Amino acid sequence: MTELLRVEKLSAFYGASQILFDVDLALEEGRTLALLGRNGAGKSTTMKTLAGVVPARRGRVFFAGRDITHAPAHARAKLGLAYVPEDRQVFPEHTVEDNLLIAAKAGPGGRRDWTLSRIWETFPLLAKLRKRGAGRLSGGEQQLLAIARALMGNPLVLLLDEPSEGLAPIIVAEIGKLVRELGAGGATILLAEQNMHFCLRIASHAAVIDKGHIVHRDDIAGLSANSDIRRRYLAM
Ligand SMILES: Nc1ncnc2c1ncn2[C@@H]1O[C@H](COP(=O)(O)OP(=O)(O)OP(=O)(O)O)[C@@H](O)[C@H]1O
Ligand SMILES: [Mg+2]
Repeated sequence: MTELLRVEKLSAFYGASQILFDVDLALEEGRTLALLGRNGAGKSTTMKTLAGVVPARRGRVFFAGRDITHAPAHARAKLGLAYVPEDRQVFPEHTVEDNLLIAAKAGPGGRRDWTLSRIWETFPLLAKLRKRGAGRLSGGEQQLLAIARALMGNPLVLLLDEPSEGLAPIIVAEIGKLVRELGAGGATILLAEQNMHFCLRIASHAAVIDKGHIVHRDDIAGLSANSDIRRRYLAM
């Protein structure tokens, strides 16, 4: 299997405070890896460092065989690394459809797997809301739009930062179903979550982060059966 994303001994800081300590991760093509950890564990900082929003102080990031450790965010996006931030960042004054059209581009190697019509098929809820201003969507609808918008760039890898956060259970289930379908369709996903249950039928493997260190790795079934690790690092 091809390894699309490889993170080696990554360290990141905010000012003088070190947040990530020697983080190692590997993500193979077609897999979904969960990055699990409680509040403030360093999930978003990891995602931001991979997206190029926060600089790596030490360590290396390889993407599709290239060293992107010091590449700017737009260059990473162009290479096919799509980042969906935890605050979603849709354009509130634009309609759902325009948010998607603005993001449409061929992926690496000219891939155009995702078109507007495929988005409407995959996200029937968004199809119904296509003319609505994105600022008038619910949190869950905005999350769906943020994921759909990332797909419109035909990426190789999706970085999803806590897609279930702060949402009602019914929409969390909807988003879970969608992410699972994307994975089953061959997408490669790094999924940061606090909610292990959300990841159970979505991710094959998990890395647990705590205070900026990867403290445990397992397949998702092993983690789910490991109440000691869950209690210690996931508060469940
Ligand atoms: N912009 C910032 N400046 C300084 N410290 C920050 C900043 N953003 C996050 N931190 C700190 O870095 C640590 C890791 O935060 P991070 O946002 O990566 O955690 P997280 O795992 O995503 O948590 P959450 O589940 O709350 O989203 C925390 O201690 C947090 O307070
Ligand atoms: Mg976070």
